Formats: sequence, C-alpha cells, structure tokens
Amino acid sequence: MKRRSFVRNATLATAAIGFNSFQNFTPKAGQNVKLAIIGVGLRGQAHLDNALRRADTDVVAICDIDERMLGMATDLIKKSGKKMPQVFKGDVYAYKKLLEQKNIDTVLIATPWEWHTPMIIDCLRAGIKYVATEVVVGITLEDHWAVVREAEKQNAHVTMLENACYFQDVLAILNMVRAGVFGEIIHLQAGYQHDLRGVKFNNGIDPYDSGVEFGEKGFSEARWRTNHSVHRNGDLYPTHGLGPIATMIDINHGNRFLSLSSFATKTRGLHDYIVKKGGANHPNAKVEFKLGDIVTTHIKCANGETILLQHDTNLPRPYSLGYRVQGTNGLWMQINKGIYVDGVSPKHHEWDDQQPWLDKYNHPLWKRWATKYNEKAAGHGGIDFFVLHGFIEAVKRGVSPKMDVYDAAAWSAVTPLSEKSIELGYETVEFPDFTNGQWMYRKPKFAVDDEF
Ligand SMILES: NC(=O)c1ccc[n+]([C@@H]2O[C@H](COP(=O)([O-])OP(=O)(O)OC[C@H]3O[C@@H](n4cnc5c(N)ncnc54)[C@H](O)[C@@H]3O)[C@@H](O)[C@H]2O)c1
Repeated sequence: MKRRSFVRNATLATAAIGFNSFQNFTPKAGQNVKLAIIGVGLRGQAHLDNALRRADTDVVAICDIDERMLGMATDLIKKSGKKMPQVFKGDVYAYKKLLEQKNIDTVLIATPWEWHTPMIIDCLRAGIKYVATEVVVGITLEDHWAVVREAEKQNAHVTMLENACYFQDVLAILNMVRAGVFGEIIHLQAGYQHDLRGVKFNNGIDPYDSGVEFGEKGFSEARWRTNHSVHRNGDLYPTHGLGPIATMIDINHGNRFLSLSSFATKTRGLHDYIVKKGGANHPNAKVEFKLGDIVTTHIKCANGETILLQHDTNLPRPYSLGYRVQGTNGLWMQINKGIYVDGVSPKHHEWDDQQPWLDKYNHPLWKRWATKYNEKAAGHGGIDFFVLHGFIEAVKRGVSPKMDVYDAAAWSAVTPLSEKSIELGYETVEFPDFTNGQWMYRKPKFAVDDEF
C-alpha cells in the first residue's frame, strides 16, 4: 500500500477437521481484548496507532528487535495516554518470551515475510486462539500448509490482515456483484502495481526515496524486502490485488482457484535505479536481481472465471491496483474510473463515470463506520480501521474472522506457486485446495452485513 500516506498518519493437503469446530474464545464480559503486537516497524505502528484508538482493546505487549522502531512505538503509546505495555526485545526470538505471558488474548504479527510462518505457528502452539498476520502467510507452499494444519490442530483462528478488501470502491463493487449488476462474472484483473524502488532502497535512516542501500545498511523494508527481489522471481505480493477479487467470486466459499501460470519479464528496474541514483560505481550496482520487473499470473477458477494478476514494483509508475471486474452484463475498470452496464449505461460503447454507481451501492460497512473513523485516523483511506476492526470484533464475539485461514493460505500461496511456474518455464501448476473439499459447502461470509 502507499507508504507515504502511512508515514503521514503514523507519525502521529490434509484433513480439514471441522470448519465449525474451531474453539470459540470470548474475552470475559466487560473486559477489553488484550492484544500483543510482534513487529512494531512502520506497519506495526499503524496497527498500534489504530489499536490505541479503540476503547475495546488494550495493547498489553509489544516486541521488536530494532530500538529505533521500539522508540517510535513507545512514543505513540505515550501520546495516546494509554498504559505502557510490556516490551520484549533483545534478539530475534524475544517474541517467544512474549508468548509465555498469560494475559494475552490475541497476537498481531507485522514482521518481515520470512518470520510470519514461524511466528504464527509459535503463537498457535502457545495457545493463542486468534492470530492476525500481515500479508503474506509464508514463503514456501509448505509454510502455507503448516499454518492451515496448525490452526486446525489447535482449533484456533488465523486471519491475514488484507486491508485492500475494505477499499470503499472495492466494497461497493462487491455489493454490485452480489446484486447481479454485472451479470455472471467471467474475468477479473488486479495487481500490485506500485513503484517500490524508493522503498526497496534508502539511506538507512529515512525510509523513502533517500538512497540506494539495502540489507544491513537499509532501514525498514529496505532491510529485508529487497533481499526477496535478489533471490526470488514470482509474484511476491499478490494479496492486495487478489484478496478483493477473490471475495467477489466466492473463492473458498463456493469456488476455488484451480491452477495458475506465471510469466516474468527481464530484470532491469532495480539496477537502473541504483545506477541513476547512486552511480555506476556504487557497490550495489553489482548486485544481480532475480525478480522480473513485471510478473504476470493467470489463474483459472473452478466456476470458470479467469484472473489476470500482475506484480510490478521495479519500474517508475503511478500507484494502481488496477482492478477490473467483468461479467455478462458489464464491467468495472478502476484505472479509468469507469463502469459500463449493458442496457443501463446511457451510451452504447461509452463508459459511465463510476462515482454515481459507487455512491448508489456504497457498502453497509462504509455507511455505518466511515463517519466515526475518518481517513486521517484510520490510515490508507480508512481501510486500516476496517481490517483491525474486523479482527477485534471477531475476537470479541468468539467467531471466525471474516477472512479466515483458508482465505489467507489460498490468496498468499500465489507467491510460491508463481515462483514454481516461472522456474518450470511458465508451466501451469495446480493450486492446492487448502479446504480439502469444503470450498463447495462454505457460504460467503466476508462483508455480508454492516457489523465487521
Ligand atoms: N497491508 C498493508 O497495507 C501493508 C503496508 C506495509 C507493510 N505491510 C506488511 O507488513 C509487514 C511489515 O512491514 P513493515 O513495512 O512494517 O516493515 P518494517 O521493516 O518497517 O517493520 C518490520 C519490523 O519487524 C521487526 N522484526 C524483524 N524481525 C523480528 C523478530 N524476529 N522479532 C521481532 N521483530 C522483528 C523489525 O525490526 C521491524 O521493526 C510485511 O509483511 C509487509 O508486507 C502491509
């Protein structure tokens, strides 16, 4: 998502055992949800900030390995006037000490990708019944299976904090899809199309657009994310694009991903950036990046739809998730802010301005909550409020989060599957069914009312 706007705001194959058998945990009546956050870097601080604004949530513990990030996080807490949580730090396994505490109801993980699977699994084994992870679930396909299996074994819930599912336009379109405005859905497109060059590299002090260092010499995402561009070639960040459109075609809730094939372009953008900004003699100009500048993935779904997904983070370009939702009656294309509905749009072959449609179909969640938590407070145009709200409300009610472990695994597994497809010469690879056949019976539950 757009980090600059965040900074502005922050400175302030297995047996699926019983979908209904997940143990319900509800905090004692009248008690707040006791939340721990592992990873209070720039994203963790956004969640912390939102959690501190909630009257029903107490942040009881935080953990990080970076003193500067911990300082920024504790500043936020002091400013909020809330009680200082216990702080766990010192080494990369300090979070295990946090998990020994008895006063924690739920854990939110906002660490680098490679830490998500081990941390989720350790939370579950420590008896935490609600775990929220930032995108993505893990690195390998086996990571994804391990998380699903452990959640089932422990009768616990894992949600992935896919905030893009709550964009106001996305939710209005979901409403339109469910109302049948576009007819039967045939094809969808989306992508993570975000020039991250100024995020993948910095000067080790300022997070954005400040230099060409990464790894140990970088700060925030430049410290870890860039290494994935050195060593991996696939759609490394699929879920902001895929999550929202998966909800529109009921993936894991009456439909499923069947197979995918991915293609990668040549790799130029990151090297080019280093040379232009740091000079041809900068040591990083010798680094060979593996990640294709644009990775394109095609997914086939059980109900006959196709999805075209792109990952485009190495070249200059304005930000766009580029959603397109197309059915037998018409389509939405986010990039040109246009909607066309056959027989309803006044002019044949001409786009309607999307806004009147989006207003008409404004989702009940936005109608109910948008005024209370304005853009400034909620981050990312409001969606950061919704994603935390969804998680906390599920905890309070002792019910499954609206985006559950099967959704998390399916959306996020595109990364290892796309890497495999590219490695095999763009072969089509099968998509595993994390639900073990239950996708046929599960009913849609995401954004079905105005509650959470
Ligand atoms: N949904 C969104 O809009 C959005 C936006 C930005 C980032 N993210 C995701 O959030 C996650 C974190 O990204 P970020 O931008 O905050 O990165 P970041 O580098 O700013 O923060 C990561 C933090 O984790 C800490 N950390 C690393 N290893 C640790 C360990 N073993 N124990 C405890 N702390 C550890 C780091 O010190 C750092 O403070 C990633 O998964 C990223 O993809 C999501």
